[in-house]
Amino acid sequence: MKRNDNTPGGASGAVSVRGMVKHYGETKALDGVDLEVREGTVMGVLGPNGAGKTTLVRILSTLLTPDSGQATVAGYDVVRQPRQLRRVIGLTGQYASVDEKLPGWENLYLIGRLLDLPRKEARRRADELLERFSLTEAAKRPASTYSGGMRRRLDLAASMIGRPAVLFLDEPTTGLDPRTRNEVWDEVKAMVGDGVTVLLTTQYMEEAEQLASELTVVDRGKVIAGGGIDELKARVGGRTLRIRPADALELRPLAGYLDDLGITGLASTTVDAEAGTLLVPVLSDEQLTAIVGAVTARGVTLASITTELPSLDEVFLSLTGHRASAPQDAVPADDREEVAV
Ligand SMILES: Nc1ncnc2c1ncn2[C@@H]1O[C@H](COP(=O)(O)OP(=O)(O)OP(=O)(O)O)[C@@H](O)[C@H]1O
Ligand SMILES: [Mg+2]
Repeated sequence: MKRNDNTPGGASGAVSVRGMVKHYGETKALDGVDLEVREGTVMGVLGPNGAGKTTLVRILSTLLTPDSGQATVAGYDVVRQPRQLRRVIGLTGQYASVDEKLPGWENLYLIGRLLDLPRKEARRRADELLERFSLTEAAKRPASTYSGGMRRRLDLAASMIGRPAVLFLDEPTTGLDPRTRNEVWDEVKAMVGDGVTVLLTTQYMEEAEQLASELTVVDRGKVIAGGGIDELKARVGGRTLRIRPADALELRPLAGYLDDLGITGLASTTVDAEAGTLLVPVLSDEQLTAIVGAVTARGVTLASITTELPSLDEVFLSLTGHRASAPQDAVPADDREEVAV
């Protein structure tokens, strides 16, 4: 169910931020941030080192007081109703927050007790969550013996103990290897499936694509873009149409044919002989339709025709003028979608 009222005490969204400002001395960590997360959705807050992501998460989880601006989480004001707010959120910080000396089970049990769960319920919740995050076998081992991925999973389990309505995940997979990152993504997807609203910060384009339906791009304390992921990609530039004729011998003649057609404003085509495809940058739906129509009219048999959106990396570069720091092992995003011909 989506609420969208602005009545006092109600929520215009699960998370609503207006004009948020936070300084650390001379540093303006947040410089007037506005943000809206709809209930049951995942908002990705994407930005490079020092953009202000952790500062935002800390304010929204009441660990830090803003200098000015307003924010509500599940309808509770971050400054005026911190106690009520804390009861409905979960937080997985950027750095592991579990007690290393204690076994996994103990960590979860204690958090349950801190949240005022009766002993029996705290025990049950610890068992349940260890099972859910595939940590049952490691339940009795100190967290210090866990691998990076196991610790992250324990962190996630810890943030779920109080059955939060809104979950904050601050760079949940930074420093994890690709396989472990995938495991964490699966866990987050499962939580979202349970109806939890998530605000997730990340520096990884691929992570945003995997988990978030909407994005807020921050840079130096300011929101520089926001919207649906595809919308952002589309805004940055055109798509590329990738055409693969069934017969590779058709490649060059087809490229020449398209260039000679004189479709208004169409950039020239590129032949990717190795891939056996023809790449056509398109800026509008009209161009796309015209090309597909022309190819069909020529009677060339096609093996496939796909459109590709720019990658999020390209989107970020175009919005900020500099690259987001990306992990070495980042897998290039695959943005292909089939179009009917
Ligand atoms: N406790 C602090 N004291 C002084 N400056 C701080 C403090 N915390 C953050 N900053 C500064 O505020 C700015 C925003 O920091 P923040 O940690 O919110 O960024 P971030 O987007 O989370 O970065 P990262 O991706 O590296 O985690 C940075 O310039 C940082 O140096
Ligand atoms: Mg941070």
